[in-house]
Amino acid sequence: MTRTPSAEPTSSALTPSGCPAAVPLSGPGFHADPQSLYRSMRREHGPVVPVELPGGFPAWLVIGYREVHQVTSDPELFPRDVGLWNQWPHVPADWPLLPMVGQPLPSIYFSAGEEHRRHVRMVVPALEAADPFEIRGHGEQLADRLIDAFCARGTADLVAEFCEPLPVLVLARLVGFPDDEGADIARVLKDLADGGPGAQEAHQRFAGHMARLVAAKRAEPGEDVTSRMLAFPEEFTDEEYMLDLMAITAAGHLTTADWIGNSVRLMLTEGDFADSMARGRRSVADAMTEVLWEDGPTQILAGRWPVRDTRLGEHRIKAGDMLLLGLGAANTDPLIRQGAAGAGAAGQGGSGAHLAFSHGEYRCPFPAQEIAEIIARTGIEVLLDRLPDLELDVPVEELVRRPSAFLRGTTALPVRFSPVPTTGDLL
Ligand code: HEM
Repeated sequence: MTRTPSAEPTSSALTPSGCPAAVPLSGPGFHADPQSLYRSMRREHGPVVPVELPGGFPAWLVIGYREVHQVTSDPELFPRDVGLWNQWPHVPADWPLLPMVGQPLPSIYFSAGEEHRRHVRMVVPALEAADPFEIRGHGEQLADRLIDAFCARGTADLVAEFCEPLPVLVLARLVGFPDDEGADIARVLKDLADGGPGAQEAHQRFAGHMARLVAAKRAEPGEDVTSRMLAFPEEFTDEEYMLDLMAITAAGHLTTADWIGNSVRLMLTEGDFADSMARGRRSVADAMTEVLWEDGPTQILAGRWPVRDTRLGEHRIKAGDMLLLGLGAANTDPLIRQGAAGAGAAGQGGSGAHLAFSHGEYRCPFPAQEIAEIIARTGIEVLLDRLPDLELDVPVEELVRRPSAFLRGTTALPVRFSPVPTTGDLL
């Protein structure tokens, strides 16, 4: 049976199923220095940690690399089926973490099993057919346009003016929107991310954009993700197309924005990194790989829900318990990092074995990972090319992380640089 939030708000903190002293999954420690929290959790609890979500809801945070791998490799026992959650009867309709946890919906992100595979068959080839050179071209053009808006000023907040808008503008083009709608979608997603009273209305506007796009591409197909999804021979409803397009954009924009932001932050704040880049020993790609290992955009992911009682680590897990994937913690698990001390991502040989995109049947689709990589790398390259003497405009201690245990990004990245002309002036 599919379960959804209870209409009645409840404040009852439920006793986790046999959990010893659960760790609260909130507080500034998660924003300031999550790795030191993960270290102390590892010492006290091992690879699977009983945690308490805001509102008193119990869950298990999986922080061992092997255990995350085990859970994500077994989608039959551990599907990403939020409908199985055994706490639904107690969840108030206005629970703040609802958008993060999700609810059962007929979309690629919120379906499971064969239903999920049906969506994957339609969505993933449509992403895969996007031409990498074209994505790079969009990235260059839109990055230039964003930089043009502040380059004569000599200062900027790179998060608000560059890192956040760039991925959503490129994704909007890829799914088939004209640029002026892309700009509104960027505003909508910002309102959604900010939460608060505007979020509900923003969600409706987001859905409205996608519904109009589906109608427009059905009438006049083009070379875009939406037209390719519509051309796929299996039958889907308009609501399913709309929800899949919302999933693609929502899953891709802030993650890619934080990948750009965390990489630029690393380059600007770690003296060693900047020095070795200047000497040509390290590249933008090295910074981006290091971020996926050490400072990834998705620190904690909700989740997986076992279909039956089982064991994980030292714990008995009940059917329908929430498992949160501690991707950020798993990537720094000392059991896989031995010998890598002090070497950062380089200790992994730049390998792609990190779990920043998760793993298994429900992982971030490979073509989506490639799209994210092209957008982020192109954006950073254009930025460094246009503003070569970019530096931080505040002391590093003043940089503030996103107030979330789940997402890892910086809320603002104030920078200064020598003012340069716009690309328009150069023509
Ligand atoms: C740095 C950038 C990105 C990161 C870190 C990231 C990470 C993730 C993660 C952790 C998941 C969940 C996997 C799971 O439950 O196991 C996911 C799913 C997904 N991502 Fe990404 N993602 C990124 C960029 C993108 C982009 C650019 C797109 C779209 C073009 C995208 C589309 C998707 C989709 C459609 C899913 C759902 C896949 C499924 O359920 O089969 N992602 N991503």
